Amino acid sequence: MKKSLLFLIALFVFFSASSQKFDQLAKTPPMGWNSWNKYHCDVSEELILKMADAMEASGMKDAGYEYIVIDDCWQVSRDENGEIIADPERFPHGMKYVADYVHSKGLKFGIYSCAGKLTCQKRPGGLGHEYQDARTYARYGVDYLKYDWCNSSTQDAKSSYANMRDALFTAGRPIVFSICEWGSNKPWEWAGEVGHLWRTTGDIGDNWNSMINIFNQQKDLSRYAGPGHWNDPDMLEVGNGGMTTEEYKTHFSLWCMLAAPLMAGNDLQNMSAETKTILLNKEVIALDQDTLGRQATCYRDNGDYQIWVKPLANNEKAVCLLNKSDEKKSVLVDFALLAQIRSFFRGAGGGGRPGSMTPLTIDNYRIRDLWEHKNITLKETSVYIELAPHSVKLYRFIRK
Ligand code: GAL
Repeated sequence: MKKSLLFLIALFVFFSASSQKFDQLAKTPPMGWNSWNKYHCDVSEELILKMADAMEASGMKDAGYEYIVIDDCWQVSRDENGEIIADPERFPHGMKYVADYVHSKGLKFGIYSCAGKLTCQKRPGGLGHEYQDARTYARYGVDYLKYDWCNSSTQDAKSSYANMRDALFTAGRPIVFSICEWGSNKPWEWAGEVGHLWRTTGDIGDNWNSMINIFNQQKDLSRYAGPGHWNDPDMLEVGNGGMTTEEYKTHFSLWCMLAAPLMAGNDLQNMSAETKTILLNKEVIALDQDTLGRQATCYRDNGDYQIWVKPLANNEKAVCLLNKSDEKKSVLVDFALLAQIRSFFRGAGGGGRPGSMTPLTIDNYRIRDLWEHKNITLKETSVYIELAPHSVKLYRFIRK
C-alpha cells in the first residue's frame, strides 16, 4: 500500500517535471539561417557547411545570427528500430558531423521534423517516434527544432506539440522548439508554455503581396509575444530576388518591429551589397533583439499609411512609418506626439510602479533614422515626411 503510494507520487513528480519547455532559451527572438526559402529540398552536407562558413565570413555571425537550420528533406527513412535515417548521399557523414562542424564555427545547429506521420515533403515525420527522435537529436547535438504540421490528420495540435516538448525536455539537451502549424489552431493562445516561437500564418513567398499580407495578419497578436515566446510571421526572403531593395528594407524593418525571429533564407555566400546593408543593419536588428521583448502595435491606421510603435527597454521606442501603397506619399508627422505616447517612466527595468510614472516629452529624446544612420534635427515638431511606394521610415527615440 505504502509502496504503491510512493510509486504514484514518483510517477506524478516525474511527469510534472517533464511537462515543460526549456525556459531559459530564446529570451530574444532567435536569429539564424534556414535552408527552405531558397533551397527547398536541395539540401546537403556541402551546402550546410558552406553556409556555416559564410555566416562567419559575411559578418552575419557578428551581427547576431546564430542558428543554422536544415529544413525538410534531410531525412529519408527509418531503420528496423525506428531510428530516423539521414539521406546517406546528401549527408555522407551523418548529422552529428554536420552539427559538430556548425558548432566548431561558434554557431548553433537546427533541424526539422513534423508532428504528423510524414513531413510536408513526404519524408518520415515524428508521430509515434517523439521520444526516440528527441534522444537522437540530443545525440546529434541539435540546438533548435522546427516542427511542422503536415499529414497530422485529426491530431490535436496542442497535445501533439506538448508531447514533443516533453520528449525534448526528457532527452535533456536544451533545444529551442519552433512550432510550425501555420496559425491554424491559434497557437498564440496556447503555445507560450509549449514552444519558444510559433508560426502565425501560412508560408511566405518572395514577393511584396505575400510579405505584406502576412504582416497585416500580425496586427492583433502583439500581446502574445515576449521573452521566450514569440510570434513567428515566417522566415526572411531578403536577398532572394523577388522584391525590390526598398521592399526588402520594408520587410526587414517590419519583422524587426514585430520582434520576429530573424531567419535569413538566402544564399549567404553570394550576397549583394544591398542585401548586406539590410541583413547586417545592426541598428535595426537592435530593435528586434531589444531585451524588453515587446512586439510593435499599430498606433495609427490610415489604410495604406500606418504608424507602428515598438516599446524598447529604458523607456526608448521605435517608430515605423509604413507606406503600403504603390504611390509615394507625403505625410505630416507629429514627433512631439510620438514622443509622448506610451512614454511613461516606469523605474529601472520598466517595473511599472504607477506612483512613479513621469511622462516623457520630445525634449527627453534624440531621434535617429535607422536606415540613414543619422540623428534627425527638427525645425518644427510636426514635419512632412516623404515616403516612397512600399517603403518605411524607421526611427529610434533614444533617451538623452
Ligand atoms: C511548410 C513550412 C515551410 C517549410 C515546408 C517544408 O509546412 O511552413 O516553412 O518548412 O513545410 O516542407
